[in-house]
Amino acid sequence: TDLAHIRNFSIVAHIDHGKSTLADRLIQETGTVKDRDMKEQLLDSMDIERERGITIKANTVRIDYTADNGEAYVLNLIDTPGHVDFAYEVSRSMRAVEGSLLVVDSTQGVEAQTLANVYQAIDADHDIVPVLNKIDLPASDCDRVAEQIEDVIGIDASEAIQVSAKTGQGIHETLESIVTHLPAPQGTLDAPLKAMLVDSWYDAYLGVIVLVRIMDGTLKKGMRVKFMSNNTLHHVDRVGVFRPEMEMVDSLGPGEIGFLTASIKQVRDTRVGDTITNDRNGTEIALDGFKPAQPVVFCGFFPVDSSEFEDLRDAIDKLALNDASFSFEMETSAALGFGFRCGFLGLLHLEVIRDRIEREYDIELITTAPSVIYHVYMKDGEMIELHNPADMPDPSKVDHIEEPRIKATILVPDEFLGDVLKLCQDRRGIQMDLTYAGSRAMVVYDLPLNEVVFDFYDRLKSVTKGYASFDYQMTGYTEDALVKMSVLVNDEPVDALSTMVHRDRAEMRGRAMCEKLKDLIPRHMFKIPIQAAIGGKVIARETLSALRKDVTAKCYGGDATRKRKLLDKQKAGKKKMRQFGKVDIPQEAFISALKMD
Ligand code: GTP
Repeated sequence: TDLAHIRNFSIVAHIDHGKSTLADRLIQETGTVKDRDMKEQLLDSMDIERERGITIKANTVRIDYTADNGEAYVLNLIDTPGHVDFAYEVSRSMRAVEGSLLVVDSTQGVEAQTLANVYQAIDADHDIVPVLNKIDLPASDCDRVAEQIEDVIGIDASEAIQVSAKTGQGIHETLESIVTHLPAPQGTLDAPLKAMLVDSWYDAYLGVIVLVRIMDGTLKKGMRVKFMSNNTLHHVDRVGVFRPEMEMVDSLGPGEIGFLTASIKQVRDTRVGDTITNDRNGTEIALDGFKPAQPVVFCGFFPVDSSEFEDLRDAIDKLALNDASFSFEMETSAALGFGFRCGFLGLLHLEVIRDRIEREYDIELITTAPSVIYHVYMKDGEMIELHNPADMPDPSKVDHIEEPRIKATILVPDEFLGDVLKLCQDRRGIQMDLTYAGSRAMVVYDLPLNEVVFDFYDRLKSVTKGYASFDYQMTGYTEDALVKMSVLVNDEPVDALSTMVHRDRAEMRGRAMCEKLKDLIPRHMFKIPIQAAIGGKVIARETLSALRKDVTAKCYGGDATRKRKLLDKQKAGKKKMRQFGKVDIPQEAFISALKMD
């Protein structure tokens, strides 16, 4: 296809504003997929994504469209993830296209992720077409939302398209606008190959599939290419496009988006942002590389049933093949036995991986408290990256500790502002900015990441009845008075419950944790002290009183089935427990004990 008839674009939106539904409509309207093959939310390929309505892996589709001017165009849509954890994936796919549709729910207006994502599009020099979605709903208010887009984002919304991705209204106008308002790509055909590695993932049949955007030259089946970051050579087995299912083609030219396979075994062998060129006489100048996504949240995964350790290793290996931003290493815990310390881009990423292990591999997990990376500066000048509070060195040898901080942007209706400020203040936040857009406030806070990774989203949602939206970016490390708090159950330290806390908040956190554990741990036949301590000093304490446990005592007479049922139930409950010395601690205690209400 000649460049003038190609349009490459992405869709940016806040979660739930209708990005996937709109993408599906564009595909359907252009006959890319026959109606009868149309599954809901076609672009969200994984089950979990579908259930949660969250798009995780960037997907792409090539759409043929004959415009009102009679000309045939190729439209390449790269779908970008909408959640904060995946901001990095958004930024890299943005570099592969020239324009964006900015989808805003016309019943809701601009949200925090609308802002975060549209700024990424602006950074990537995109032309932007605003789309006001959900106009079929009575609460739709296009004038207000268009005005908000102009006020808050600062782009012209006078020609915003009014769309219902549900009924199909405005879809034709959207396609026309892509052709007329978004620029054609640029590139040179008579030049060495220069292609951008946009994304890659593992496929059980084809090996690693590499999504590419051709900048210059031609990518052909059968040619040998070089990945410039590590100078590896590969023989291209297949070249193709997504419609959205794979379709093989002989070659891809400048401006085009498609994929290649080259018998690559691991996603780790491909570097997103890399430049792909000819093995000989290739281009000299690589594209500006991207920084790889770094895990920022860590936690331990341990099998509930320790005989499943090898299965867990297998599951983690497989998942990591397809996800270069997920890291792991083996971990041994005195309390939990063998497991893995895993690193994630954020909490959602953690949850998705945990769910996949539990569901797809059927392994029950104990997940330890999420932690961030602390920089521990020793008196001898060494700096240790602490991924796990259990590994905290002897405090007498530590000079100081630094923790990561974030800049958080929260958009919230006025009436909940007070609660949001209080929440941020409680989490050691420093207010940086507060502005108003209509009846909503935008607050910017500088917060320690460790106060956010645990249950900040949950708390924010609950204090604002779901009306707040949230986005963050890491800003850097600062020193603070941080200490390791240990928890002792029946005088035995439970390493998996150790956390790093701020000194001023340690006592409160310790007390809350002991109270929680007292409720979560079932009574035993002996008295159990539950303590929180810093170093050797106990800062909080609860005692779980003894109980003679006879679950069948409440059963009347000789109802044997009922009695058996109860015993079975108790047995099933047992499976989810872990023994610490003589004490059984249920699985949910590890997560629940750390939640602050
Ligand atoms: P993520 O993929 O999670 O980022 O969300 P999304 O932005 O892709 O939103 P999605 O397309 O999943 O739509 C969210 C919800 O809004 C779904 O329940 C859709 O059915 C609904 N929806 C999308 N477009 C419209 C519309 O035009 N009208 C109405 N009434 N509902 C819509």
